[in-house]
Amino acid sequence: MEFLVLICVLVALTAANTKQFKPLSDEQITYINSLSGANWKAGRNFYPHELERAKRLLGVNLTEVMEFSRKHLTYKNVQVRDDLPVNFDPRTKWTHCPSLIEIWDQSNCGSCWAFGAVEAITDRICIKGGGQVHISTEDVNDCCTYCGDGCDGGNPARVYLWYKSQGIVTGGQYGSNEGCKPYSLPHCDHHTTGKYPSCKGDAPTPACQLACRSGYNKTYTEDKRKAKSSYSIQSEEQIMQDLVDNGPVTAAFLVYEDFLSYKSGVYKHTAGGVLGGHAVKILGYGVENGEKYWLVANSWNEDWGDKGFFKILKGSNECLIEDYVVAGEPQL
Ligand SMILES: *[C@@H]1O[C@H](CO)[C@@H](O)[C@H](O)[C@H]1NC(C)=O
Ligand SMILES: *[C@@H]1O[C@H](CO)[C@@H](O)[C@H](O)[C@H]1NC(C)=O
Repeated sequence: MEFLVLICVLVALTAANTKQFKPLSDEQITYINSLSGANWKAGRNFYPHELERAKRLLGVNLTEVMEFSRKHLTYKNVQVRDDLPVNFDPRTKWTHCPSLIEIWDQSNCGSCWAFGAVEAITDRICIKGGGQVHISTEDVNDCCTYCGDGCDGGNPARVYLWYKSQGIVTGGQYGSNEGCKPYSLPHCDHHTTGKYPSCKGDAPTPACQLACRSGYNKTYTEDKRKAKSSYSIQSEEQIMQDLVDNGPVTAAFLVYEDFLSYKSGVYKHTAGGVLGGHAVKILGYGVENGEKYWLVANSWNEDWGDKGFFKILKGSNECLIEDYVVAGEPQL
């Protein structure tokens, strides 16, 4: 009897997961919001006709990240202490580091792999006492050919080795005129009714400039910041401990159709097929409505998701988010 009940439950769950909707359709969004157990809310971030454009934002080949990390990154065996907090938000711990509350915009370019790494690198320099500078996504995206193909995708794990061997210059957001090489591609509306111009066409990778913007008071070589170490981390608690001790880490995960429509709550895959691999910054964690989550910053500007952030189920390797975690320590 119990066995039959279990089979029915499994069949019902499988049916729910394979339910077919047009990606990004109103029907798919309504369906997600109708599920009482979903614990997250969907809404309109992208229109169905923007699916191809959205896919280009997903610039990570997860297989390549895994193969590379295993071969070239040291695995850090983090000692987990028993005073690990249940909730951890670094924005209230390291208030002298405003980069922790910032959300970036990769524009119409598949440079998520550069953002996911550079955002965490920036936070950690500040947390370790190096001051609040911004590390340049432009430098990584345009010049690290070892890391990938710029706007056509790359590998965040490689960024950490490049950071250690070559260093990365500083550079703020688009239009900030801050640092050596600020981001050159404009913020754009990935979404419906935001405040930026709409994202049109695919941005080509800007040419690599081995020089700082005019008026900047250091040379490109002088401005390079380097890592003391770069490493990969595994397991829920070790990732938590490293976040608490050292600050944000870089992660990559599988993006399914429904993720694009995320608005709030603790995301888990609920509807739709796989679209690609994406890199992001994990900054904290906690528990909401009885579900453990990772707190994550996306790079699709603050109009996407929960003011640019999202929460994703923690502890069960949701969308493989716990498989590709990498980080580094700055040389100050
Ligand atoms: C991803 O990387 C793997 C390993 O390097 C490679 O074999 C595969 O072709 C790549 N996939 C795509 C879609 O480029
Ligand atoms: C360069 O400019 C920054 C910020 O304006 C200033 O803090 C720094 O002292 C300057 N460095 C040099 C070498 O002039």
